This record gives sequence, C-alpha cells and structure tokens, in this order.
Amino acid sequence: ATSDSTHEERGNGGELHQRAGGDSPPMTTAQGARVEDDQNSLRAGDRGPTLVADHVFREKIFHFDHERIPERVVHARGYGAHGVFECLESLADITRASVFAKAGKKTETFVRFSTVAGNLGSFDLARDVRGFATKFYTDEGNWDLVGNNIPVFFIQDALKFPDLVHAVKEEPDRGFPQAQSAHDTFWDFVGLMPEATHMTLWQMSDRAIPRSFRMMEGFGVHTFRFVNAEGKSSFVKFHWKPVLGMQSVVWNEAVKINGADPDFHRRDLFDAISAGDFPQWELGVQVFDDAFADSFDFDILDATKIVPEEVVPVRVVGTMTLNRVVDSVFAEIEQVAFMTQNVPPGIDFTNDPLLQGRNFSYLDTQLKRLGSTNFSQLPVNAPKCPVAHFQRDGHMQVSTQPGRTAYEPNSFTGADRGPRESGTDGHVPFPAEVDGTMRRIRAESFSDHYSQARQFWISQTDVEKEHIVAAYTFELGKCEIPAIRERVVANLRNVDEALATDVADGLGMPLPAASEPAAPVVETESSPALSLLGNAK
Ligand code: HEM
Repeated sequence: ATSDSTHEERGNGGELHQRAGGDSPPMTTAQGARVEDDQNSLRAGDRGPTLVADHVFREKIFHFDHERIPERVVHARGYGAHGVFECLESLADITRASVFAKAGKKTETFVRFSTVAGNLGSFDLARDVRGFATKFYTDEGNWDLVGNNIPVFFIQDALKFPDLVHAVKEEPDRGFPQAQSAHDTFWDFVGLMPEATHMTLWQMSDRAIPRSFRMMEGFGVHTFRFVNAEGKSSFVKFHWKPVLGMQSVVWNEAVKINGADPDFHRRDLFDAISAGDFPQWELGVQVFDDAFADSFDFDILDATKIVPEEVVPVRVVGTMTLNRVVDSVFAEIEQVAFMTQNVPPGIDFTNDPLLQGRNFSYLDTQLKRLGSTNFSQLPVNAPKCPVAHFQRDGHMQVSTQPGRTAYEPNSFTGADRGPRESGTDGHVPFPAEVDGTMRRIRAESFSDHYSQARQFWISQTDVEKEHIVAAYTFELGKCEIPAIRERVVANLRNVDEALATDVADGLGMPLPAASEPAAPVVETESSPALSLLGNAK
C-alpha cells in the first residue's frame, strides 16, 4: 500500500493527518459519528489538561481497556479456518444424522487446532497433544466433534480433569514452565495415575511434535453412538486422516523452530490456504455393536483405550477441505465455542465418564470466557439452520424472535404462538438401559492400564522407539525430585522392560522395581496403524 498524499497534511506539531476521501472511508466512532481528528485529544488551551468532554477519546480508550477476554483454561493457543465437509456415501442405515444423509451432501465446517498446556502467547511446537475441534453447521443443528490428535486420553473420569490440568500447567509458586510437560508436577501426577501411561507414551512419540496442522490425524476419542431412523443404535469412533499423510519434526528441529518462529503452525496453515493449497482430511468411522463391545478385551467407555483398526477397520465416509482463512482471529478463532454436547439427531453419547463430564464443562466455561449466555448468536457459533425457542434477553441479545408469547404451552395462533416441540423428530436420547446402585467405585473393566500402552510401544519402528526413549529421558531429566522419575520408570516396566531400562540408563539411575499393575498385562499384537512412519502415505 502506498500513502495517498493528496489526502495527507501535517498538523501544528508535525503530526500526520490522513484524511477521508478517494478510497478511504471516513473514520467514525462506534456510534457512527465522523471523527474530526484522531491525533489530538481535546484539551483546554495550548498546554492544559485533557477534557472529560472529549467523548471520542473516552470511547476509544474505554474500548481498548476492555479488549482482552479470559484465554481458554486449556487449549488457549490455537488457530483455525473455515471449510466444507462432503459426505461420500449415505449412512442412513446406521444414523439419521443429516450430515451423512447422502453421497455428495456438503456441510460447512469451522476447525480450530490447538496445543493444550501452553498459554495464548506460547510457541507452536511444544511437545504436547494437539486439539482438533470441528464444528459442522448441519441443517439440523451444530455438531461439534471436539477431538485431539491422539486417540486416547490421560484420565478415565472427568472428576480428575482439574487435577490433570493443574499438574501440566505452570507451577503455581513460580509460574513456569509455561508450555512443557518437562516438570515435576506433571510427572508426579502421571506417575501416581497409572491410567495416564498409555497417553504419555503417545505424547512422548513423534505425534506430539507435528510438522503441520495439515499433517495430523484427529480423533473423537470417546465411543459415541449413531442412531438410525428406526431408533437402532451402533457404537462409533471418529477418525480424521490427513490426505498429506502424517508427518512430524524431530525434537532437535522443534526446539530450533520454536526459537526462530513460534508461529510456525499457524503461519503454515494460513499460508497454505491463502495460496489455494487447501488441506484435506478423510473422516473415518469405526462402527461396532453391543456384541463386539461385550467381547472386547477393554471397556469401550474407557477413554484411555483405542479400538484397534485391524479389529474394526476404519471406514472412510467423507472428506473435509479447509478452504478459507478467517477475517478476524479474535471474532472467529478466539470466540468460537466448541461444546461436546452439541450433537444433532442421529448422534448421541455413551456413558463414558469423561465424555459425560465434558458435556457439563464446555457450556459452563463458555459463559466465563465469552461473558454472555448469548454466545451462540456470534456468527462463528450460530447454527446455519433455523433457530426458534423461548429463551429471552440476557447480555448482548441480538436475536429478535417474533411473536407475543415467550412461553408454552400457549393458546395463541399464527406468529404469536411461537415454536412447538418435535417429539420423535427431535433429538431423542437413546434409551440405553441403566441399572445398579449409585456408587463412586470405578468399574473393574477400567483397570488394565498397561496392555494397550505395550501394544503402542511394540507397533513403533526402531527409530520411533529411539525417539520415545529420548523424549522420556529429556522430559524426566528435567524433574528435580528423584522419586518422581523412579515412579514413572517403575510404571514403564509394565509396558516394556527394554523401554524402562533404556530410559533408566539415559537418566543414569538404577532400574526401580516394577509397580504393581491393577490387572495383568495382556500380550497384545502390534498394530501397524499406530506407527507414524509405517502409516505415512
Ligand atoms: C477445550 C479436547 C477432555 C474441558 C478443549 C479443546 C479441545 C478439547 C480440542 C479446544 C477447543 C477449541 O479449540 O476451542 C478434549 C478432549 C478430551 C478433553 C479430546 C478428552 C477426550 C476434557 C475434560 C474436560 C475438558 C474431561 C473437563 C471436564 C475443557 C475446557 C476447554 C477445553 C474447559 C476450554 C474450552 C473453551 O474455553 O473454549 N478440549 N478435551 N476437556 N476442554 Fe477439553
């Protein structure tokens, strides 16, 4: 851009005034009044005080003073883009979700990728899990698939989520480390919670330092339900597979990139989409029934477990293309509100205790962060299908629902009557059977914490194994308290002796006795789909 000298002049003090005219529209206040002078506040006399009468100054500073909103309590640092999902085949036999109604059907989407632990201003290539959250603006309401790039999670019960996050975030008395898992509190928690072992193996693998958001897998993690028009339910796990294949950097590169370009991932996504090089993912589903769930060695409600792709193959049912960068990072990426409870008819929850807790947490946190119960009216959050209800008022209300009534049942007619319920055309919760007594005791079917961690380990190539050992050694090497390191290595002995021995050697410590597993470790087979190198296209 060049400056337009025909509309420029210098003021008394040499300050530059760029006047409206030509291609430049007049600057206005937020109330629309044209601004006379944006360089000088209104003062009494030549060198006197600024006047309270200067409403233009007051409005400008008032707005600036309130620019910041709370960053997300987790996944604070992220980047996103708009896209479109195309259904490749009708899934009407297993789900009535309209997004899967027929081949060729297109649904707009918005995706936000993120790191988990780091603050808003942290760097992109931290060793961390990546969020992969997708909002589908379906014609029957928004569907938010709020997943990660790792198919399992650290904990089994949402009650432990605040503890997990407090352990991984900066330590309260010192305010660091900001974006690294390399510290005592994180490994203390993980060592004391053997259920985290599987996830930490993935986190120490190359998957936790992706080359690009465009080269990451995504997973819905939990087992969800598909429900068809007849009310029949199947279990489903969701997978995103990058068309570019999975790629990672190595740790040495990650450290340098973080120093040289902390915005590496966001720049990469912005540049690729701006250049018309649109990233794509295939959406895959693993669909299985009660009989499979009952015969499976692990509990399908346990978010620390996968369903192996060799056992239940991933069926590709759609593609997503990200084709538009945002106009405003704040309005779209920062204000987008993902919520696991956003599901359209045809998609439903299971009793996974982590998912059940999430369904409470996301709504709650959005109010804190966005400050108004009407956040669903922001353009990035608003459904693209008709919305009609009797919710009224609240901060920042912009929706004008027509008619005289704001309650039902009512006896009015026409537009005054307002919307009516849909019965079985609505989102009918799947009538899953519930039995037993209320209790806080964890099911025994959740007690095997090591067999799948072992399966992941043996699926890795030799190079990938070396990277995992190096990552454990580096990260645990930053712990100041020896007992914390020992507990983690004691748990690793239940995964694999060579892994534990190599990590202990790397740390220069004697091999501790193995910890006592809650359930016997099962010799499971290697899963080729788990190796990043074996899987790359
Ligand atoms: C944010 C994924 C578990 C609470 C997020 C985001 C993702 C995500 C991708 C970022 C969304 C965005 O980009 O705006 C997951 C996955 C989980 C998990 C895959 C386990 C399978 C939990 C649990 C809780 C929780 C158990 C709480 C009980 C939150 C909160 C936010 C968040 C409060 C911040 C949301 C916001 O401010 O917009 N999570 N999460 N998450 N998650 Fe989770």
